[in-house]
Amino acid sequence: MCCIPGCLRLARNPHRDSCEGPGRLPARFSDSLQTDVCNGKITSTYVSLKINKYKELLMERTLSIIKPDGVQRNLIGEVVKRFEKAGIRIAAMKMLRLTKQQAMGFYKVHQERPFFESLTDFMSSGPVVVMVLEGGDVIQKNRDLMGATNYKEAAEGTIRHDFATDIEKNVVHGSDSPATAATEIAYFFSELEICR
Ligand code: CDP
Ligand code: MG
Repeated sequence: MCCIPGCLRLARNPHRDSCEGPGRLPARFSDSLQTDVCNGKITSTYVSLKINKYKELLMERTLSIIKPDGVQRNLIGEVVKRFEKAGIRIAAMKMLRLTKQQAMGFYKVHQERPFFESLTDFMSSGPVVVMVLEGGDVIQKNRDLMGATNYKEAAEGTIRHDFATDIEKNVVHGSDSPATAATEIAYFFSELEICR
């Protein structure tokens, strides 16, 4: 739509012919931007719309879980502090206890693995804290903060290096790809529970 209040024209830039004066957008730019720019001028509304659009493109969400060992050992604050210090926004958070069935459903990608039984027993052995983390490149950022699955291989300063006691009891879970993040977030949260 045209950005002049009250103008109902669909802006295939209807005002373009009168847009060549000083302070106006050069024609080569207005060609590609003509649906967004009114009268050849970049408006502040246009700029903030564009910024929001790019922010949305860069913004990612991921699922984080503080596993039963982390909750039991009073590590909730420590883990959350690391996320916040890294500039990650917590968009949703709750504590719950998974049933064995729910843990099996969550980890069904691993159902053929030898550790599946033990892992799902562990994940249903006590309360967990589930969170939706939000930020630019947050899936990878979270994985970097967590460290390698095996705490013995995790880099210094990572959560697993600093707190894990076992390859299974490794304090935190984090989604590993955008597709997994979407499925895992939906496993725990409705869109209404995720705060903007
Ligand atoms: O959690 P992450 O994505 O780093 O590793 P995963 O390969 O997806 O495995 C999921 C979880 O299974 C791990 O975090 C461990 O708790 C557990 N696991 C295990 O008990 N023994 C293994 N050899 C590998 C994973
Ligand atoms: Mg994984």
